[in-house]
Amino acid sequence: MNTQARSTEKPAQEPLRLAIQKSGRLKEGSAELIKECGIHFQTRGSNPLKASASNFPLELLYLRDDDIPGCVADQAAHIGIVGLNVVEEKHKPVRVIERLDFAKCRLSIALPRSMEYQGLEDLNALHIATTYPRLLRKFLDENNVQDATIHEISGSVEIAPSIGLAQAICDLVSSGSTLIENRLKEVAVVLDSEAVLIAYEDLPDEQNEILERLLFRIRAVINAKNRKYILLNAPEDKIEMISKLLPSLESPTVIDLLEPGWKSLHSVVYEDKFWESIDALIDAGAESILVVTIDKLIE
Ligand code: PRP
Ligand code: ZN
Repeated sequence: MNTQARSTEKPAQEPLRLAIQKSGRLKEGSAELIKECGIHFQTRGSNPLKASASNFPLELLYLRDDDIPGCVADQAAHIGIVGLNVVEEKHKPVRVIERLDFAKCRLSIALPRSMEYQGLEDLNALHIATTYPRLLRKFLDENNVQDATIHEISGSVEIAPSIGLAQAICDLVSSGSTLIENRLKEVAVVLDSEAVLIAYEDLPDEQNEILERLLFRIRAVINAKNRKYILLNAPEDKIEMISKLLPSLESPTVIDLLEPGWKSLHSVVYEDKFWESIDALIDAGAESILVVTIDKLIE
């Protein structure tokens, strides 16, 4: 009898292990995304490099971003949040499963402002300092810049030209202020990057099922981020014209107002496109326009 009772018990689920950056440019965005997915973590316990969620089968591992692709490739973590630049440079066998729409930056080649530059051929014969030798080599090869040499260093790339270590650099540019501070100019983009979700290539079924649930939430968060819920009022005879102008995702909802001859129109729109059409909407007779933040959008 006892044996039978035990056999019907569900074995405890092994959580999905997610590696995120311990400190640096992705740290805040990664934590914010997990929070927006409604997943709660207790403040870090005895192990400062690990934390368990209280309401979702997820465990966080805090790592250096350079180590995340390797840890996912050998399944120390099942999935990870890391910059596409790191994924491409490390070239480990992992799957990129989602672009996460934060920590956008580019890997670029920059030269001292005083140096003349007409085009990529001017990079020939230059010595270029970088922490991204693989990506830089690939870019130079693809663009037939065969005579440039690469100096690999592990940080403070931006000061390399001023201390005579190299004539040019290839480094991440986000706001561009590091380049300005170091009197450098960006001349070529090697890679456009942002935070991405990566996964072990052959996840066990159990972890894959948890990943699907997590992805469902992540997509709802990302969808909501760039869109707004719009409400506006307009005379009845203007509604058709206005709904044509609105950059809506789907057919808008039209509701009667108490005032005869007036309607209210509701719709979900891409925020950037909405601002482009605002003048035309007002000209067409839209009034009392409300722009509302969306928390989650499930499509
Ligand atoms: C990157 C890069 C630059 C800086 C560029 O460093 O190496 O130093 O960001 O950003 P900006 O265009 O906004 O000035 P990161 O902060 O990733 O740290 P790192 O120095 O460890 O690479
Ligand atoms: Zn730096």
